[in-house]
Amino acid sequence: MGSRVSAAAHTDRAVGVGPPDTLLDSSERLSRADLRDQQLANLQNTLRHAYDNVELYRRKFDEAGVAPRDCHALEDLARFPFTTKADLRETYPFGMFAVPMEDVRRIHASSGTTGRPVVVGYTENDLSLWAEVMARSIRAAGGRPGHKVHISYGYGLFTGGLGAHYGAERAGCTVIPASGGMTARQVQIIQDFQPEIIMVTPSYMLTLLDEFERQGIDPRTTSLKIGIFGAEPWTEAMRQEIEERLDLHAVDIYGLSEIIGPGVAQECVETKDGLHIWEDHFYPEVVDPLSDQVMADGDGGELVLTSLTKEALPIIRYRTRDLTRLLPGTARPAFRRMEKVTGRCDDMIILRGVNLFPSQIEEIILRTPGIAPHFQLHLTRRGRLDHLTVRAEAKTDASSDQRESAAAAIAQTVKDGIGVSVGVEIVDPETLERSVGKIRRIVDSRDQE
Ligand code: DLL
Repeated sequence: MGSRVSAAAHTDRAVGVGPPDTLLDSSERLSRADLRDQQLANLQNTLRHAYDNVELYRRKFDEAGVAPRDCHALEDLARFPFTTKADLRETYPFGMFAVPMEDVRRIHASSGTTGRPVVVGYTENDLSLWAEVMARSIRAAGGRPGHKVHISYGYGLFTGGLGAHYGAERAGCTVIPASGGMTARQVQIIQDFQPEIIMVTPSYMLTLLDEFERQGIDPRTTSLKIGIFGAEPWTEAMRQEIEERLDLHAVDIYGLSEIIGPGVAQECVETKDGLHIWEDHFYPEVVDPLSDQVMADGDGGELVLTSLTKEALPIIRYRTRDLTRLLPGTARPAFRRMEKVTGRCDDMIILRGVNLFPSQIEEIILRTPGIAPHFQLHLTRRGRLDHLTVRAEAKTDASSDQRESAAAAIAQTVKDGIGVSVGVEIVDPETLERSVGKIRRIVDSRDQE
């Protein structure tokens, strides 16, 4: 697993400028030793709070034979049971809330593709902490008071829009709450309001880029200087594509509803070398997804997160399903980094015994001349064998010869690099489904045949 997750590479592009010391939170200046002391005290509180107030935690801790008083060091967390999405679904909607409902100020939910949505809640303090980590993330990305921030993450039950919104306000920025959709109008607003920052999924950024070009506007001439992209995996190749076409700094933001929303980890613009996890509030571990064993820093596996300061929904050892590894801090030395997440355990396609992630295909597509950065993976069954067809879109100016050689090149590169045969179809420009939020890369029709 570790070998698949490639080391976070620097792009060729010059990196940006980090915030002056006066704009850092006090925890960003802590020593690692002081941070760890603070983490342990908060972890002990969180374990107690969860055990005392959430029936599911009490049952699971009791079954595992551990109690909050057994946590004497951060490493003791490994003795406590994991929490999964299934636990949140089982207690739908509010069963894992640890405070009375009248103390819950807001609810968000993530739909997922199947089953009940996962519901999360926030007290007033939780909302304030969320705004604080989001503001910190925006500053780490290069945002400063007075910047205008165009937010195209969806507003609503999804945490992206409102999470970014209150963080940008807390950072002293001017918010343009565009939400997702109405793409032509978004381009107009960016042209007229002149924001320095855009916050959006990378796939919707591509949709916006196409719209700029359709309106005859060179995207490199816009006011945008910084893009804060997340909510879905995106590769270094995609960073390069976006930075070149938009002439801005593209940085990665990570988070998930169950932990708080966006703002769990953020890439610093001065290093662009993976995401610093705001460890004063979220404690990371990486485990082997098969054996469940905690792995050493530097080894690849599944990210597991524990909240340290949340009230309404304390979350203990949450299995994110996201694959990454932990690395030492750089731009913020107290906080460890996580490598860019390029895949989830559940996104892994096993094709005739070979593991394949959509992000690997993304890198190949983006390197292929004549091909636009839009693609979908179609899974079908032929006889007893699974078959994968990569559907990629031709650029508008690609000739039919170029399309043919692109198809052959993609198939060959997948065969050589990943070790499996796939079909490749090059489709006409503007024919694949476009994203207005998180993109769906895999279309699985295996059970319909
Ligand atoms: O996507 C929160 C968010 C909003 C993050 C805006 C960043 C920006 P959920 O809808 O609960 O929350 O989805 C969480 O999205 O477990 C990852 O699989 C994926 N994800 C989020 N950020 C990244 C990222 C929001 N930077 C799930 N890179 C997570 C790769 C990401 N995957």
